[in-house]
Amino acid sequence: MSVSNLDDLKRQAALKAVDYVRDGMVVGLGTGSTAKHVILALGERIKKGLKIKGVPTSQETARLARKAKIPLLPDDAAWPIDMAIDGADQVDQRLNLIKGGGGALLKEKIVAAAAKRFIVVVDHTKRVPVLGGSFPLPVEIIPFGWANTAKKIEALGGTAVLRKRGGKIFKTEAGHYILDVNIARIDKPAELELQLNALPGVVENGLFVSRASLVIVGTPAGVEEQHAGH
Ligand code: 5RP
Repeated sequence: MSVSNLDDLKRQAALKAVDYVRDGMVVGLGTGSTAKHVILALGERIKKGLKIKGVPTSQETARLARKAKIPLLPDDAAWPIDMAIDGADQVDQRLNLIKGGGGALLKEKIVAAAAKRFIVVVDHTKRVPVLGGSFPLPVEIIPFGWANTAKKIEALGGTAVLRKRGGKIFKTEAGHYILDVNIARIDKPAELELQLNALPGVVENGLFVSRASLVIVGTPAGVEEQHAGH
């Protein structure tokens, strides 16, 4: 399937997610190409009178949201987030996720954890029977002693690769590094999420376990919804 067709499936799923947004809500705004469709669709509804406030999960999302005329709450407010909407890199059958391909996993997890509902929007290629394999797990770490932290992470299983972009070490908005950890199968995501975060030097990891309330999937046969617990 071509990139533009996949992008259209992401857009259709994003439109469906935006149907759940109601007047007066505080909405967590995810990061990435799918979240961008969500922001654009919210912008269209705002033009027609929708009143919401947003909490962005990255500087790029904040920029897109301002362009779409979504009023944003300050970073240091105690946000009452009604609903967060975000993309994902992988989704398993229990609605557990891998996120962080775009490097925004830390803010994304804080916002998802603060939200009453967390809606995930993906195209069908992100669905997997078991997390891992084709997509490495992003782990955000402190630069100090990163090589030692990488060894501790590898001791839990997998091979850790320091993320680079354009030949330079990739830094997150918080100034951290990301290790992309290749793991053949993540059979126990809840356990691994906790084990990783217990290691000194690890800030957060891209496993989002039991967080999604609803996953909306754009497929060539139409948009499908899977609610948590069903
Ligand atoms: C960014 C993320 C994104 O949600 C994830 O990478 C999916 O991106 P896209 O919607 O562009 O496929 O976790 O940190």
